[in-house]
Amino acid sequence: MESKAIIILGSQYGDEAKGNLTDYIINNIAKGDNNNYVVRFNGGANAGHTIIVDNKSIDTHLYPSGIASNNVINIIGNGVLMNIISFLWETYHLVDKNISLNYIKDHLIVSNRAHVTLLCQQYWDFSTNKIGTTNKGIGPTMACKALRVAMRMEDFMTDKYIDKIKQMYNYVSQFIIWEPYTLYLPKLENNNMQTNVRFEYYNDMMEYELKTINNNIDFIRGIIKDTVGYINNINNNSTILFEGANAFGLDTDFGTYPCVTSTSCITSACMSGTGISMRNLINRNVKVIGVFKAYITRVGSGSFPTHEDNTKWGNMVQNIGKEYGVTTGRKRNCGHLDLVQLAHSTLINGYDELNITKLDVLCFANEIKVCIDYYDTDGNLITEYPSCDNYMQNMKPIYKTFPGWGITPEELRNIKKYEDLPSTIKDFINYIEHYIFSRINQKVNIKFINTSPARNDKIIKN
Ligand code: IMO
Ligand code: MG
Repeated sequence: MESKAIIILGSQYGDEAKGNLTDYIINNIAKGDNNNYVVRFNGGANAGHTIIVDNKSIDTHLYPSGIASNNVINIIGNGVLMNIISFLWETYHLVDKNISLNYIKDHLIVSNRAHVTLLCQQYWDFSTNKIGTTNKGIGPTMACKALRVAMRMEDFMTDKYIDKIKQMYNYVSQFIIWEPYTLYLPKLENNNMQTNVRFEYYNDMMEYELKTINNNIDFIRGIIKDTVGYINNINNNSTILFEGANAFGLDTDFGTYPCVTSTSCITSACMSGTGISMRNLINRNVKVIGVFKAYITRVGSGSFPTHEDNTKWGNMVQNIGKEYGVTTGRKRNCGHLDLVQLAHSTLINGYDELNITKLDVLCFANEIKVCIDYYDTDGNLITEYPSCDNYMQNMKPIYKTFPGWGITPEELRNIKKYEDLPSTIKDFINYIEHYIFSRINQKVNIKFINTSPARNDKIIKN
């Protein structure tokens, strides 16, 4: 039976090009007459994704990636942190790209239980940022959620939201030392809205936020819904695509703590972050797909043993792979693929299939290295993925080396069938599948092989 629920997850430290697979699958499922669904269940405005529609590129952080596709209803689940200014700005950006507000209202619903990130929480994140976060307020919002003081989308339904926002500003003021702050918002092409807003005083920020929300309150109210019954009652003929944000190595519990994000990023988050039941997922023959690059990138201060900061190889990968963040514009540190991590990520997430991306970026290299184990600083062999950043810093990678692909990116791009790939790449892919099986006794098919950044340049392996 075909899968009617698909979960796409990042298996490394983010930016694996999950969006590329998401777009590919949406493009396939959006063809029928049936409505299909794209659902966000974790993260917040820390995620970054570019959708290309009719040659126009649209940057999304909070909007599910199906927002510009026909026959797709987009759901933002309770597990997502709604940075409301960031969300409204994305809405203006979509309108700027000719996706009308009426279209959005008919194709987007947001859970009444989703927590709201206000600018005061974003400022809190910015002013206490120790691990190189994206400064989108993720940690402070989750702290407020755990402390049961936070604001949720349902609070917007009555005018009491104004008092609630004032209370939140008051509450957060205990934890921050205020200094004038500039909010940077992306420029819009057809709209002269102010993009850099400087706040001299804390209250200015609150006034700005209240005004922006008041101006859009009818739109906000129109998209809020109790999504639990809705998602559990979706027709069995429709496909639900769960679009994971962030990644396994950044997971609050299983990532390299404390250099992690604050929402869960693993398979089960699609249940806790939407209210869909396990039974429903099983009935839909759910499938989990992990996305990984042929190398690794990471932003923020978390370490990873295979990094190549400022080496010739590292700089080549950064330039050819355009490894700069969509969300913060930061350079991503690049390093070799870590199979210990990939096997561990497969163990926890239970991937049915994998998607390897950015093979083309490595066409320049004469040899390809993958990490298969580590030594610690005392020379002990370590075969397990470390539980925290402290231990991770002690790991020295043990590499297996493969020959370079021996073809150009243009030649790779023209290959359409698995059989036609050079044996260098087939051996590499085979090795990864066998490695994972030997480590965790689980078969996983690297089904999707990207041969270029273009959405349809994918080899589908049986
Ligand atoms: P996508 O969906 C890359 C990283 C941040 C930081 C840590 C904590 O584009 O793959 P946070 O702002 O979440 O509190 O930051 O997690 N991080 C990401 N890095 N891509 C992402 O998402 C990320 N989401 C969080 O850089 O190190
Ligand atoms: Mg990112």
